Amino acid sequence: MSKRAIISGITGQDGSYLAELLLDKGYEVTGIIRRASAPNLWRIEHLIGKVALRPADLLDQLSLMRVIDDVRPTEFYNLAAMSFVPASWDQPMLTGEFNSQGVTRVLEAIRQVDLKVRLYQASSSEMFGKVREVPQTELTPFYPRSPYGVSKVFGHYITVNYRESYGLFACSGILFNHESPRRGLEFVTRKVTDGVARIKLGLADSLSLGNLDACRDWGFAGDYVRAMWMMLQQDQPDDYVVATGIAHSVRDLVDAAFARVGLDWQKYVRVDPAFLRPAEVDHLIGDPAKARTVLGWHANVDFKRLIEMMVDADLERVASAPPARIGNPA
Ligand code: NAP
Ligand code: GDD
Repeated sequence: MSKRAIISGITGQDGSYLAELLLDKGYEVTGIIRRASAPNLWRIEHLIGKVALRPADLLDQLSLMRVIDDVRPTEFYNLAAMSFVPASWDQPMLTGEFNSQGVTRVLEAIRQVDLKVRLYQASSSEMFGKVREVPQTELTPFYPRSPYGVSKVFGHYITVNYRESYGLFACSGILFNHESPRRGLEFVTRKVTDGVARIKLGLADSLSLGNLDACRDWGFAGDYVRAMWMMLQQDQPDDYVVATGIAHSVRDLVDAAFARVGLDWQKYVRVDPAFLRPAEVDHLIGDPAKARTVLGWHANVDFKRLIEMMVDADLERVASAPPARIGNPA
């Protein structure tokens, strides 16, 4: 009998890559989508007809219970979240509803309907915030620096708590930043690669950014969804850091992206204080030793290849898109 998986957040970056992976492995995949006034399926257009789509929302307990009861999945990947850190200062309460209580609703739905469902919870390196040690491991204490980070700490510990209280097979992946050509335009990697493409093609003459000194451990989303799946195939549920173990600054990112098209970034990049954050996470770098040893996971795509892949994809997209569809990144 084929395995069945539910993915919340299937319309997001990770959801789209995970759906592809699970389909390749022979799963029946159901994606949860929330109603929007306009279709938001561009990342999964190529999967329509291969995945089932069901309406539900992390804000609506009954909708989650209904979809689990109907589908009876073996695995549930909870990727849905308000994932853009700056927006969490604008809407801290809603961020908590999605990323904290939303996780509790998923856990309760599983507990009420079928305790055997295996759960993956999307935890985040943003929980380490003002880091207590370098590199960060599964044992590094959390010190979140944004409402988003705080909300994810709740989501992380409520998942641990349901595992310990009710014996749920629940795993939290503490994933460091991961990117792709499907990354939202407001995140810094995609904002830069889209900006580079527009400058190269003569559609823009500058790119405004915030803190160029911030460092992140950036990997490829396609590699990271593999780690999610691996966690749920183990004999015991546990939490894992997923990272490359190598950090770069935003300045390195800009340098690599402009170099890909033969331009000197210093001629185009402006620092705009509007993009600085009320509290910053200065430097994240993960230690993926446990994921490597226990899961056998490793990243296939390095930083340089990732940025080249994203610049190339944006060049192709911007060159072929009608002007109305190009849009302005945040
Ligand atoms: P993303 O592209 O922003 O996707 C978020 C998804 O969540 C979208 O499908 C969105 O649906 C859905 N969603 C938001 N609120 C919802 C709600 N109330 N009910 C149902 N669905 C809702 O994020 P991502 O980069 O794929 O990240 C996936 C998960 O991993 C998130 O939980 C994120 O916080 C976490 N994470 C990401 C990274 C990273 O570097 N990418 C690192 C660590 C952890 P709509 O399309 O309708 O908006
Ligand atoms: N977005 C953005 N825009 N970030 C900028 C800019 C800019 O113009 N200029 C500099 N940065 C810096 C931010 O200050 C931050 O230090 C860094 O670039 C990365 O920002 P984002 O790409 O927005 O990602 P993030 O690290 O805040 O959050 C992402 O990674 C988390 C894991 O650590 C998101 O995917 C979160 O959902 C995820 O949990």
